[in-house]
Amino acid sequence: MMVSKKPCIHEGARLAGEGYYHLAGYLSLIGALDLQLSSHLLNGPSQSLRLTIQFSLVGLKYKQLSACLMDRKNLVFAEYGPYWRNIRKLCTIELLSSSKVELFRPMRREELVNFVETIKIAAKSRSVIDVSSKVESLIEDMSYRMIFGLKDDKFNLRSCLQQAVSITGAFNLADFIPYLRAFDLQGFGRRMKAVNMVLDGFLEKIIDEHVQDAKELHGTHRDFIDVMLSLIESNNTRELHLGRDHIKAIMVDMLAGTMDTSSTAIEWVIAELLKNPRVMKLVQEELQIVVGLDRIVEEADLIKLDYLKMVIKESMRLHPVAPLLVPHESIEDITIKGYFIPKSSRVLINTWAIGRDPNVWSSNAEEFFPERFIGTNIDFQGRDFRFLPFGSGRRKCPGMQLGSMVVELVLAQLVHCFNLELPGGMSPNDLEMTEKFGLTLPRANHLFAVPTYRLRVNFGA
Ligand code: HEM
Repeated sequence: MMVSKKPCIHEGARLAGEGYYHLAGYLSLIGALDLQLSSHLLNGPSQSLRLTIQFSLVGLKYKQLSACLMDRKNLVFAEYGPYWRNIRKLCTIELLSSSKVELFRPMRREELVNFVETIKIAAKSRSVIDVSSKVESLIEDMSYRMIFGLKDDKFNLRSCLQQAVSITGAFNLADFIPYLRAFDLQGFGRRMKAVNMVLDGFLEKIIDEHVQDAKELHGTHRDFIDVMLSLIESNNTRELHLGRDHIKAIMVDMLAGTMDTSSTAIEWVIAELLKNPRVMKLVQEELQIVVGLDRIVEEADLIKLDYLKMVIKESMRLHPVAPLLVPHESIEDITIKGYFIPKSSRVLINTWAIGRDPNVWSSNAEEFFPERFIGTNIDFQGRDFRFLPFGSGRRKCPGMQLGSMVVELVLAQLVHCFNLELPGGMSPNDLEMTEKFGLTLPRANHLFAVPTYRLRVNFGA
């Protein structure tokens, strides 16, 4: 038996190359899902499929902490079974379907126009902008408006959610030595309960306001809460018996799912574009041909931006937003390549390591080279195990369509409307690309740039 050190994906990848397999306590931790094993998983026949697809995907790591958050009614924490199936169906059909995503198109346009306008002001005075903060607040505003109709964060919701995500992503001793759970030695349980109380207070208040407003709205939906309230009203809550607690839990899922994921993905693409001026030039040329310099990008343009799509894939290959996906749990005993993996093992799929494996991506795996996707049919769907930015199988991301569209849209708009330069004459080679490890993998430091307006027209909405 080998006790793993603090998980670190870089180290995981290194150890993986050496073929290590970590076991800790009675949990089989494949945190550093070794590359040999993963290559086998990717190339091998049925067993690889069984591991990634057939295993029930449950956030075991969260078992202790998730109980403190929203009474464990969240989709992301739900164990595979009827409850998870019902809540997932509700989210995919009632909230995240193409028609629902389409409903919020005017809102997204309005927010993007504001975003462009504020950057234009900085461009006029040749000021440096904090690209990371700008993108984060754009995504935050869009998410708040879609989920509960406001964009006013009086409850400091962002910091609450970030705390919840960081606690669930932290190295929790009790996951490895289960009898320590009762003692809460690292204080995660207490901190999670405190975060839960603040979140709960906010969500209760916002649902009350929506219930009041619903009387005047006569069935018109403004946001996700209205949709869910109207399902309760019409007694159309499927098998779920939807109630207030579910609404609160789903709102937390949607907020946590949408906020840091899209902004992290966007920031990495911009960083890679600043580091690779050749690629930036090609992205802007494509936009110039498809959109032209006399207007901003519209959602309908996205389908024609093939090169941008490859650039995003390439960035997600090197910088997956969720480097170990969400921890999964095996539902049956299985032996792969001589490794016995017992039922109820925690399975971490190291997409970070897979994305940088030269055996999978050739010797230029570390290079940012979007053209590697030309002529391939590798997409976000999780069918090709070399590339799993949204996961795979039954537990793959239900917000994939919305998330990937927002990432494309914001990036296209930003680099179409502005040329971006690194501040203080910094060379692209000097731009640091350090990651901050957690459940998600954002940049360790904010990204700064000097914008110059590119379009021939000056217009807003
Ligand atoms: C660029 C944006 C996004 C990325 C890269 C991303 C990535 C992921 C990944 C990797 C997983 C885990 C899949 C697995 O373990 O197999 C996941 C799960 C999930 N995502 Fe996303 N996501 C994004 C956007 C969104 C959005 C916009 C929402 C909702 C509004 C969302 C909601 C969720 C939920 C609820 C789950 C848990 C699903 C379940 O357990 O059944 N995500 N996402």
